Amino acid sequence: MREVVIVDGIRTPIARAHKEKGWFRTIKSPDMLAALLKAIFERNPKIKAEDVDGFYVGCANQTLSQHGIARLTWLGCGLPDSVPAVAYEMQCASAMAAIHGAANAIIAGMGETYLVGGAEDMLHVSMGANMEFWSQIGKHYNPFELPMGMTAEKVAAKWNINRPEMDKFAYESHMKAAKAWEQGKFKNEVIPVEVTYEDGSKQVVDKDQGPRGDTTLEAMGQLKPVFLPPDKSRGVTAGNSSPLNQGAALLFLMDRAKADSLGLSYHLKFKSGAIAGVDPTMMGIGPIPSSQKAMKLAGLSSKDIDVVEINEAFASQSIVSLKELGIPQDKANLWGGGIAIGHPLGASGARITVTLNSIMKTDRKDAKYGLATLCVGFGQGAATIWERAK
Ligand SMILES: CC(C)(COP(=O)(O)OP(=O)(O)OC[C@H]1O[C@@H](n2cnc3c(N)ncnc32)[C@H](O)[C@@H]1OP(=O)(O)O)[C@@H](O)C(=O)NCCC(=O)NCCS
Repeated sequence: MREVVIVDGIRTPIARAHKEKGWFRTIKSPDMLAALLKAIFERNPKIKAEDVDGFYVGCANQTLSQHGIARLTWLGCGLPDSVPAVAYEMQCASAMAAIHGAANAIIAGMGETYLVGGAEDMLHVSMGANMEFWSQIGKHYNPFELPMGMTAEKVAAKWNINRPEMDKFAYESHMKAAKAWEQGKFKNEVIPVEVTYEDGSKQVVDKDQGPRGDTTLEAMGQLKPVFLPPDKSRGVTAGNSSPLNQGAALLFLMDRAKADSLGLSYHLKFKSGAIAGVDPTMMGIGPIPSSQKAMKLAGLSSKDIDVVEINEAFASQSIVSLKELGIPQDKANLWGGGIAIGHPLGASGARITVTLNSIMKTDRKDAKYGLATLCVGFGQGAATIWERAK
């Protein structure tokens, strides 16, 4: 069977989707992807744009400036029009669906070289922009229970996760991310992006806007629940939820034999991937069945998994997913997670894969298996297991 390797993985810094404070407030998803395309070809001169078999981009809300995101960005960068582009939509796992698509294509012999990732701009294209919610869903589910924050509350209630547990998990995400930035861990994966603001001033954004190294458990404890009134809430707040963000990530996935023939280096190969469906009113538990399925396909158990990147949509669902998978928290999100770094929906499946690739290249050279997993709006989960290749 053909093997799929990660030849490179990069991402933009992740900015807050805030119309005054957001560091990316004057740029959109195609701009972020364009910065990554330029950088990834410069970093990998042996790979020519015309030799790419597909540009696969995940994006959760494919409307407005994100409509036709894959093809239009590629063409807008002046890259060869002979290269096909596909946009993937699986809500928060859109980029992971794109990764699975490219891995499947390589294994099936459809191509050898894929540029794959995701982008999301939650400032100019808000969650559910232009969405018409189909009324028939209401026959099967209570529409009040479907918004993401409500699902986080339901998961916390069902598994009896309390506010201090959620805040502690979120606090640690900030501490780990702040420390990783301080120690320069993200240097190799983050590509600085130059932004021109409304008044013509320019800034090179070279770090994530989200991590709050100075936050405290006391400050986080003061934040009010945002999705339910305090007496009905388990305590899902702005502090223990992922924020709204802008960001993009990109990887070169390649047939191993092709990478070897070009003399390219890599350290991870695709072991297995899986998606699964769950009750949409508890969408946050999606990592449980999808990771279990991926482990079963790989012939592994949770004890074999050395390092995990689980997308922190909310603290409650991350805590429950890890607990049910039997994976200790100290194996997960070693450089912080989505609560601190940010969760630009359709980009996150690629962002966590890029970071897993970096972690297994540097801090965890001893790790054999890495799992990347996310929950997905409307009740799904996605997971990929990567194995050390060399
Ligand atoms: C939870 C949510 C509604 C909060 O929105 P918001 O109030 O605009 O949140 P912000 O991130 O701007 O934080 C608001 C304020 O809370 C405070 N705050 C947030 N996190 C904090 C922390 N860790 N420590 C201390 N204060 C904090 C700050 O005062 C902050 O304002 P400031 O930094 O501008 O001064 C929004 O982030 C959200 O919808 N998140 C979920 C997104 C989602 O569903 N994604 C998909 C998942 S599947």
